[in-house]
Amino acid sequence: MILKPTSRNISKAAQEIRSGNVVSFPTETVYGLGADAANEEAVKKIFHIKKRPSYNPLIVHLPDPSHIGRYADISDKMTKRRLMELSSFWPGPLSVVLKLKGGISKAATGGLNTVAIRIPSHPIALALLEECRCPVAAPSANIFSYVSPTTAEHVYESFGSQVGIILDGGDAEIGLESTVLSLVTDPPKILRPGYITAEQICEKLGLEIQLPSETEPKRPESPGMLKKHYAPHTPIVLKTSLPPAASVSNAGYIAFRADPKLDLQQFRTVSLLSPTGELEEVASKLYKALREQDSMGLDFIVVDTCEESDLGTAIMDRLRRAAK
Ligand code: TXA
Ligand code: MG
Repeated sequence: MILKPTSRNISKAAQEIRSGNVVSFPTETVYGLGADAANEEAVKKIFHIKKRPSYNPLIVHLPDPSHIGRYADISDKMTKRRLMELSSFWPGPLSVVLKLKGGISKAATGGLNTVAIRIPSHPIALALLEECRCPVAAPSANIFSYVSPTTAEHVYESFGSQVGIILDGGDAEIGLESTVLSLVTDPPKILRPGYITAEQICEKLGLEIQLPSETEPKRPESPGMLKKHYAPHTPIVLKTSLPPAASVSNAGYIAFRADPKLDLQQFRTVSLLSPTGELEEVASKLYKALREQDSMGLDFIVVDTCEESDLGTAIMDRLRRAAK
């Protein structure tokens, strides 16, 4: 059921989580599907509902960076220093992978000796996490490998009544999943590009960091990095790979910016994400447009591309995976 995020409903949702059930809540990036990260059975429910492979670990959400040391071993000097340097990104869309200390179920970490931790900035998420008084494992609230949800309705469309409470926070502001940064390696490594960019992280840490590998390891370092991911059912074609003679009369087009040179009439449907091509606007509207066009019975969806720097890195990362 989709519920207004009143304090009464937030308390109800926290009670559900404490009782070992799964609820969906908004974050600034995408909607999450949360359960008590310390409770093995509760976390298993997330995997079951999402149809997610069990080796794929979940991000643990906390209300405050001061809680990190309860679950992660941050005793060494270098990790402490790096966390300090990154602290201005919290609360916010940066998840960090750290050495696991304890207090998190094996199901949530996928049996790894590391744990990904995130302190979201969305006020509803923070209020919920405060009230839960437990670490909350929360992947994006979509069926495994489908497009992440940016509205409460998206969550309902995927799970219906399988998820008892969906707290409605309206449209997600950022619209792309958090950046995942491993602090276990030296230098640190971005496992999943996101809203917080490599450039911003390098500046804070004062060093060059490793970027995601192009080739996919057998067991991915970060399973969100699986090649086919974030994908609608309709084939995605990047605009740069569209053959000039392709018939697009039953195709959709997701435009990042207004382009007076292009004849939009030839497409069956067009979603213009940002008249001026602002990447923040593109990111925030992209998943909604993909889901909308995916429900239209199109032959394929043509999507614009952008330069792969700053936020463009994360946008193109998701699009390439959707287009595989
Ligand atoms: O923005 C977000 O991060 C959203 C919202 C709900 O907070 N959550 C999210 O979770 O995107 P999920 O489960 O869809 O993605 C988690 C990513 C995956 O790529 C996973 O492989 C990686 O984090 N991850 C989790 N634990 C890890 C670990 N110990 N080592 C490496 N990667 C890890
Ligand atoms: Mg996901």
